[in-house]
Amino acid sequence: MAKIKKKKTGKKTFKRKKKEALKVRFPLQAPRGTKDILPKDAPYWDFIYQVAKEVLESYNFQFIETPIFEDANLFVRGVGRETDIIEKEIYTFYDKSGCLLALRPEGTASVMRAYLENGMESWPKPVRLYYFGPMFRYDRPQAGRFREFHQIGAEIIGEADPIIDVQSIQILEKIFAGLGLKNLSLQMNSIGCNVCRPRYEKLLKDYYQLNRSKLCKQCRQRLKKNVLRLLDCKEEKCQQLANNAPQTVDHLCEDCGNHFKEVLGLLDDFQISYNLNSRLVRGLNYYSRTVFEIWPTYLEEGAQSALGGGGRYDYLLKELGGKPTPAIGFSAGCERIIAKMQSDNVPLPMRPQPQVFLIQLGNLAKKKSLQFFEKLRVAGIPVAESFGRDSIKAQLKRADRMQVKWSLIIGQKEALDGTVILRNMESGMQEIIDQDKIIPILLKRLKNHL
Ligand code: HAM
Repeated sequence: MAKIKKKKTGKKTFKRKKKEALKVRFPLQAPRGTKDILPKDAPYWDFIYQVAKEVLESYNFQFIETPIFEDANLFVRGVGRETDIIEKEIYTFYDKSGCLLALRPEGTASVMRAYLENGMESWPKPVRLYYFGPMFRYDRPQAGRFREFHQIGAEIIGEADPIIDVQSIQILEKIFAGLGLKNLSLQMNSIGCNVCRPRYEKLLKDYYQLNRSKLCKQCRQRLKKNVLRLLDCKEEKCQQLANNAPQTVDHLCEDCGNHFKEVLGLLDDFQISYNLNSRLVRGLNYYSRTVFEIWPTYLEEGAQSALGGGGRYDYLLKELGGKPTPAIGFSAGCERIIAKMQSDNVPLPMRPQPQVFLIQLGNLAKKKSLQFFEKLRVAGIPVAESFGRDSIKAQLKRADRMQVKWSLIIGQKEALDGTVILRNMESGMQEIIDQDKIIPILLKRLKNHL
């Protein structure tokens, strides 16, 4: 079983922390780096999932859902032991039978595991799968960076043609456009294959060894294990060094060079503008060849940059025990998308608001109203009620506050003779109508805005 580095904690400190953790502290709070999705934000989530689903299904992607926790080794092998995600950020735990499990830090490795486990290797290629859901990474929380966050993701398995790279980018851009996001910039790079990348990494290592003293502490450590990550360090002094470092695109083998040239040529043909970013290497080890991210053009200070990112991972399936199969995919962070929608004041489609309020008076009427509510709901009339309240005044006040056009009132008399009072909330005019006839009447009036 693969080892996952544990933060060193003295026995005493650990015991003290464990004891403290068992104490209940009021007020209870969501764990650091997580947040509740509150009703006020629910329309954003609905909208994101709806747009992503529509776009992805129009490109023939099929939905897949994998467990939130997996065997930890899947991520060690898939994402890479030397990545920050595995070294520092993965949440692991032993279950009661002693299995080492991990909360998924990302979706691609899980989807590939499910692909292999469920015989999708025999499906006609390419296989297109998409998913939504929470991911978990233990990192220092800050604006746009959470310990639990949500992704929409898509994977295209079984196709190496550069046109698929461009189509993936196009799809991600279509999703962002459908969500009304503007001022985005596409960052592009190629990190080569198993032939040219080791050669490039050697060159990079030599370059950084010469400049070792100018590196931040973390990069000095990374130099031993994951030299590519030095290129995207956020420290000022490391950034300066990265600017002068050898660039991957200058050291690609012929096949990777041609592949990347074709990708860029197609982006030009489709008028998709991009920024060649030689420092874009991504934080997961499974990538090969094309990698990309989409950033907001204007970044608020301290905010996390990428709204979404992805790339090719032509070796991952073999690494996980499958046949060598090229693949590409992307995912996008919902919290960052929502923050961008909010800062850009993107209008959301309005949810149907209740247009009718059902008022009841007396026990029999209350019972009748419950059945009547169901009939209205099934007929597609957005209706609200306040069954817990008995006074007509309180119910009318509620209806007023909800700004409904119509109220339906059922009292003891109406409950017995099968009628209902229809009240126009603006004019106060009231009509008595048979309960059997009220639905078509209401539908007509609502349709004609009467
Ligand atoms: P990733 O770049 O690690 O890629 O994450 C994708 C997106 O998830 C980011 O661009 C960002 O929007 C969001 N994200 C990542 N970490 C956080 C965080 N701590 N808090 C909030 N949002 C975050 C992947 O996960 C790959 N699986 C993408 C992929 C799919 N590559 C191929 N297929």
